[in-house]
Amino acid sequence: MPTTPPILEVHQLSKHFSRKRSVLSPFNRRGGTIPAVDGVSFYLRQNETMGLVGESGCGKTTVARTILRLTQPTSGKIEFDGRDITHLTDTEMRPLRRDMQMIFQDLDAGLNPKMRVSDILKEAITVHERVSDAEVEVRSRFLLDQVNLQYSKLGSYSAELSGGEKRRIGIARVLAVGARLLVADEPTSALDVSIQAQVVNLLRDLQKQLGLSYMFISHDLQVVELMSHKVAVMYLGKIVEMGVTERVVSAARHPYTYILWSSLVEKQNREATQPVRLERRATWGVFDFERPFRGCRFAPRCPVFEKRGRPAECTDPANEPQLRDIGGGHQVACHFPLGV
Ligand SMILES: Nc1ncnc2c1ncn2[C@@H]1O[C@H](COP(=O)(O)OP(=O)(O)OP(=O)(O)O)[C@@H](O)[C@H]1O
Ligand code: SF4
Ligand SMILES: [Mg+2]
Repeated sequence: MPTTPPILEVHQLSKHFSRKRSVLSPFNRRGGTIPAVDGVSFYLRQNETMGLVGESGCGKTTVARTILRLTQPTSGKIEFDGRDITHLTDTEMRPLRRDMQMIFQDLDAGLNPKMRVSDILKEAITVHERVSDAEVEVRSRFLLDQVNLQYSKLGSYSAELSGGEKRRIGIARVLAVGARLLVADEPTSALDVSIQAQVVNLLRDLQKQLGLSYMFISHDLQVVELMSHKVAVMYLGKIVEMGVTERVVSAARHPYTYILWSSLVEKQNREATQPVRLERRATWGVFDFERPFRGCRFAPRCPVFEKRGRPAECTDPANEPQLRDIGGGHQVACHFPLGV
């Protein structure tokens, strides 16, 4: 893993959304908020990729939007390049916007279908600085080289581009403004499988060339494994396991991580070799912020909790498991981690 200084440090970050009021509101035990992100801490070094995984609704996009200050955090601290940016105003954030950019799942995000690629790139190149037309032309061609597109695409309208080409132009736009931290939220999910591999390779090449830092969010665990130096696994607003990718993937210690990856292994018809054999539960799939109210939030779905006879530690409201280092920077939030 690279040992450059952190570009991003996040401390106890929380984002609670207000619940829409309904006729059932008076019976809602959690009051008026959804704790979409609930005390998340991590750091990301220059030239490093952190994968962020977890089921739909666990808070990945909210983490991404909050660290880029597209959403206001409820509490916690965000440091970029050693500077506390948690409470900067929009005006104070503006110069930092060129450093930290988001790549959205939607391939059309930011691509006006009525604009030619040349104008889209020009807009990005000139957003923060005055640049002559001749310089814009040179930089645009350089950007197309970087994302492996032909110069002839400069004359195309974005509506005429394929999905893969749109994604490349989206990446060229964030390079045009000089971004150093890229938060990619499902950057490959809207693409065909063959194109996904090309985009992943492109992002990896650009990281090597430009020393970029990535936060990479994806449902595709194989892609996350391929892209990431380290992985954080989220469950219901909290990181439950985090560490170097190989360790989290091949020696998962949190039951949730283990189940996530073993379902991928099952899919690939490989045999799992973990110390505890876990069965996927019939209730798998549906979850929400209402459950559980006490102790470990994974307890209602945790096979280890069942196997150990529902130990009191797991449901003790004063003892919610917190991330702790089990060696080598591998952190797990579980009272009974697997194989430890
Ligand atoms: N603007 C909002 N207002 C209210 N609730 C929100 C808002 N944005 C997100 N949420 C809620 O916060 C929780 C986390 O949502 P988020 O989009 O971060 O999940 P996610 O992990 O990115 O899911 P997915 O994998 O489906 O993209 C969800 O319960 C969601 O309904
Ligand atoms: S703390 Fe208990 S319920 Fe939570 S994941 Fe660990 S074993 Fe399961
Ligand atoms: Mg999301």
